[in-house]
Amino acid sequence: MSAPSSGRTSGQSPADALIVQEIAPRDGLQIEPVWVPTDRKVALIDGLSDAGFRRIEAGSFVSPKAIPMLRDGEEVFARIRRRPGCVYVALVPNLRGAERAVAAGVDELNLVVSASESHNTANMRMRCDASFDAFAAIADTVADTRALLNGTIATAFGCPFEGDVATGRVVSFAERYLALGATGITLADTTGMANPRQVRDLTAAILRLVPAAGLTLHFHNTRGLGLANVLAGYEAGARRFDASLGGLGGCPFAPGATGNICTEDLVHMAHAMGIATGIDLDRLIALSRGLPELLGHDVPGQVAKAGCAWDLHPQPVCR
Ligand code: COA
Ligand code: ZN
Repeated sequence: MSAPSSGRTSGQSPADALIVQEIAPRDGLQIEPVWVPTDRKVALIDGLSDAGFRRIEAGSFVSPKAIPMLRDGEEVFARIRRRPGCVYVALVPNLRGAERAVAAGVDELNLVVSASESHNTANMRMRCDASFDAFAAIADTVADTRALLNGTIATAFGCPFEGDVATGRVVSFAERYLALGATGITLADTTGMANPRQVRDLTAAILRLVPAAGLTLHFHNTRGLGLANVLAGYEAGARRFDASLGGLGGCPFAPGATGNICTEDLVHMAHAMGIATGIDLDRLIALSRGLPELLGHDVPGQVAKAGCAWDLHPQPVCR
């Protein structure tokens, strides 16, 4: 069987390619209980950029009391090897975080507000309007810098405290971000409540506001629907997806949150379908296989355990 591992599928339109933003260094590590030293974080991020990612969320600039694991954001950004063409992103909750991120040379600041008031209060300790007030101050601050803004809408597909989230509210939050100058919107399924039909409909609604290059879908595999949701989003026109090496990740401020969709499982699916990603799957799998040693526990990803579908096994000899 052919081995489409390079991701440089010939004959395919670049518009069909799937862009993966690797987020293990942020969403993946933020929920880990045991400290990962800065040099190991830097090595992980450099290994990811060597595997071909064009976008990596490399950390966050939040309160070190809220997320102690990522308190070394400045040092991480100072020490990573910046691969030309790779956009290094950091999550930022407030003006203080934005100032830290700009000083650290972050390429793109990822702002986060939840679509539901209760999750925003649990995660960011403020009402949604207060988050947008903070974002307005951030937009003023970054206006004279080269940093870009991405606006994430967490719990966009459902809230673990409130249940359904109205499409109109998600659309209006996207509009508010765009009015502040954000060049990208992320729809985040923070606790894995999305289903493929809902993904198709919300993707179509947001693609009326932003081009495909400006929309990212962020799924957690909490209920096993992660890759089904990716495919629904892709077929509705989305091209950019967040994913986390090994399937690490989760929001510490959402009950029952588990890992993001697993990057190597996503890239494997794309390559098996003939969809290019530009990512070296073999390198990715090798990186993922190093995670249990780094973190001290098994990780949920499946392809790193099973191997690729096109890796054939020797046939047993019958005697
Ligand atoms: N960077 C560094 N320190 C920060 C900070 C930032 N961006 N924002 C706040 N702080 C510090 C304050 O200086 C203060 O420190 P002190 O207690 O030593 O005085 C402390 O954090 C609390 O600050 P305050 O402004 O009162 O904020 P808060 O307690 O209401 O917290 C958040 C609000 C959003 C800043 C905080 O909860 C946070 O950073 N949460 C992380 C959210 C996150 O990453 N979630 C997962 C990803 S979606
Ligand atoms: Zn997440």
